[in-house]
Amino acid sequence: MTEYSRDEAYTLANSAAHRDYYDKWAKTYDQDFAEGTKYIYPQAICEILRVRSAARDLTIADIGCGTGLIGVHLHNRKWLIDGFDISAGMLEAASKKRVYRDLIRLDLKNEKDYPSILYSAVVSCGTFTLGHLGPDVLKKMLALCADKALCVIGVNLEHFETLGFQSTFNELHSQNKIENFEIISAPIYDKIENENSKKTLANLCIFNYCRIL
Ligand SMILES: C[S@@+](CC[C@H](N)C(=O)[O-])C[C@H]1O[C@@H](n2cnc3c(N)ncnc32)[C@H](O)[C@@H]1O
Repeated sequence: MTEYSRDEAYTLANSAAHRDYYDKWAKTYDQDFAEGTKYIYPQAICEILRVRSAARDLTIADIGCGTGLIGVHLHNRKWLIDGFDISAGMLEAASKKRVYRDLIRLDLKNEKDYPSILYSAVVSCGTFTLGHLGPDVLKKMLALCADKALCVIGVNLEHFETLGFQSTFNELHSQNKIENFEIISAPIYDKIENENSKKTLANLCIFNYCRIL
C-alpha cells in the first residue's frame, strides 16, 4: 500500500509542496489511488465532453492532468489533448500512456507562463479540490479558452462551497464571460463508504467561454 494519500494531499500548503508530493506519488498513483478507490471522476468528465461536443473536432486542455487518466478516456476520438501540470513525475507517467499531443509543466497559478494557445475545450478533474487550486486559478485558466470553448471543470463539492466557486461563476456570468452554465453533481468514487460526504462528491461545472464580447 502506498505511503501517499488524498487526505495528506489536501493539506499541502503551496505549489512547491504539490510539485514535490506528486513527484513522489506519481509511480503508484494509478494503482493505489485510482484503482484502489474506484476513481470514476475522469470518466464522468469525459462522458459530458463527449455528449456536449456533438462530435466536433476538439483541441483540449487538461488542467492538472496528473498521470493522464482523462487522456486515456478521451483517446481514439481523434481529438488533440494537451496536459498541464506542475509535477514532472506526474507528466512522465502521463507521457507513458501516449495519448497526449503535448505535456506542459507549469504552475497554473502563474498565468504569465501559459502558452499562447487557445483550446476549443478545457477539462479538469481532481485539481480544483481541497488544498489545491481555487476560483482565482479557474479565472486565470480561461486565458486558454477559444471563443465558445466548451469547459467541463470538476470541483470537489466541499471545496466548491468553502471557497465560494458559485460567486465566481455568478460574476463571470454577469460579465458575459460565460454562457450555458450548468452544474451536474457526481460521485468521485464508485464505492459505498462515505457516499454522503461532500468530500466524495463533485460539481461538474459545464459552460462555454465567451472570448469576444
Ligand atoms: C489529485 S491530482 C489529479 C490528477 C488527475 N487530473 C486525476 O484526476 O487523476 C491533482 C494534480 O494537480 C496538480 N497540481 C497541483 N497544484 C498545481 C499547480 N499549482 N499547477 C499545476 N498543477 C498543479 C498536481 O501535480 C496533480 O497532478
